[in-house]
Amino acid sequence: MASLSQIIFVSILLLIISTQCEAQLSPTFYGLDTLISTFATKGFSARDLVALSGAHTIGRAQCAFFRDRIYNNQSDIDAGFASTRRRQCPASGGDSNLSPLDLVTPRSFDNNYFKNLVQKKGLLASDQVLFSGRSTDSIVAEYSKNCSKFKSDFAAAMIEMADISPLTGTAGQIRRVCNLVN
Ligand code: HEM
Repeated sequence: MASLSQIIFVSILLLIISTQCEAQLSPTFYGLDTLISTFATKGFSARDLVALSGAHTIGRAQCAFFRDRIYNNQSDIDAGFASTRRRQCPASGGDSNLSPLDLVTPRSFDNNYFKNLVQKKGLLASDQVLFSGRSTDSIVAEYSKNCSKFKSDFAAAMIEMADISPLTGTAGQIRRVCNLVN
């Protein structure tokens, strides 16, 4: 059975992909403007985008999703962090090798994800872009200092996400197994 984190992840990627079906790029390579506008199509603000991305305080990502970031010597990545991540993610092969999205406390729901971003230690390009000298920097900085504000904004945005186009009456069903139609 799919874990809660898998369900959340699949939901958000479907949200992104369903509004970007012509796009050839993986969502991890989207720029900030695309992330903001994609979330906006579902009624989410930039603040919601940042709060929801904080779900990456838990879980892991496969090498294929962040290889480009750790090998292409970008200026928005901490050099030590990139070098550590390269040990688990070779320049070729090992596509499914896993690394924690939050290197400090990968199993705790806290605000270290945001503290990492401030230190240029975001694993995915789509994480680091939230703190890259642009409009969302101040929100990331706020959450990095105020964990309870992050948690309350996250909870509110999750409830909002659950309200996206819900199926009602006989249009849908409550699944017995979450990734299978009954
Ligand atoms: C902002 C756009 C987002 C992008 C581009 C994105 C992308 C990704 C990617 C590439 C992974 C790694 C998947 C893998 O390696 O198999 C991942 C993992 C994850 N994502 Fe996101 N994500 C986004 C937003 C979200 C949101 C809004 C949530 C939840 C509210 C979320 C929750 C998770 C979780 C919990 C994992 C870890 C899954 C696990 O370890 O099993 N993500 N995400």
